Amino acid sequence: MNKIRVPDIVKKKKDKQKLVMLTSYDAITARIVDEAGVDIILIGDSLGNVVQGQDTTLPVSIEEMIYHTRLVSRGAKRAHICADMPFMSYQTSKQHATENAGRLMKEGFAESIKLETTDEYIETIKSIVSAGIPVMGHIGLCPQSYHAMGGYKIQGRDKKEKNRYIKLAKDTESAGAYSIVLEGIPLELAKAVTKSVSIPTIGIGAGPHCDGQVLVINDLVGLHNSRVPKFVKQYADFRDLMTKAVKSYSADVMNSKFPTDENSFSWSN
Ligand code: KIV
Repeated sequence: MNKIRVPDIVKKKKDKQKLVMLTSYDAITARIVDEAGVDIILIGDSLGNVVQGQDTTLPVSIEEMIYHTRLVSRGAKRAHICADMPFMSYQTSKQHATENAGRLMKEGFAESIKLETTDEYIETIKSIVSAGIPVMGHIGLCPQSYHAMGGYKIQGRDKKEKNRYIKLAKDTESAGAYSIVLEGIPLELAKAVTKSVSIPTIGIGAGPHCDGQVLVINDLVGLHNSRVPKFVKQYADFRDLMTKAVKSYSADVMNSKFPTDENSFSWSN
């Protein structure tokens, strides 16, 4: 079992091997995901939506990210551990950003950090990288800009924006990032951006031409009751499974079928 490290991730693009990334937010799920062989576990600030039940990722704090990163680090042994920088943990200054990135490493045991990347944060990436912290960029649909975007909207639909995105990806690479998430952009744009950089791109809602893919684990296993977005492939229906299990348990308790002697302790054995 070889630990996946940043150079292994970068090399995968050169070797034309796809990268597999998935989110996790707790130790037990992280262990399952890790043992199933994914390359990177992302502690996404999507935990605001799928763990905390919030409408956006905006309320997630750096303390909450550190806490969940520590849980995941405890569960995963092989996969690379990347932690999201939450809203307002990197926006106000390079120094604040670098300190918070450091906290995710020191207190959460992250092995790299990710931040939503626009032109404004290229210098921030340089500052974090210069502190010895590997950075994953994130281009396209940036959920922390939910209000500025006017909702979760696919970005880069206008073909004229192609060169702007390519420049941003190249600047992100030049700033020292080791990979870039491409979220919610047309597949043609993702293909062009992927070709333009030598670091891997990891897509979500960005089509098949990225160097890797990422999904939110809750979406993949079907833990939601809401509509599954177009870019998600649901591989299981855990919600249905859990509902059935809970209903069976309730029925058993109400009908005195659980616990039986088998589930009980006795003076005689
Ligand atoms: O927060 C998150 O889970 C993410 C992924 C969707 C890339 O940023």
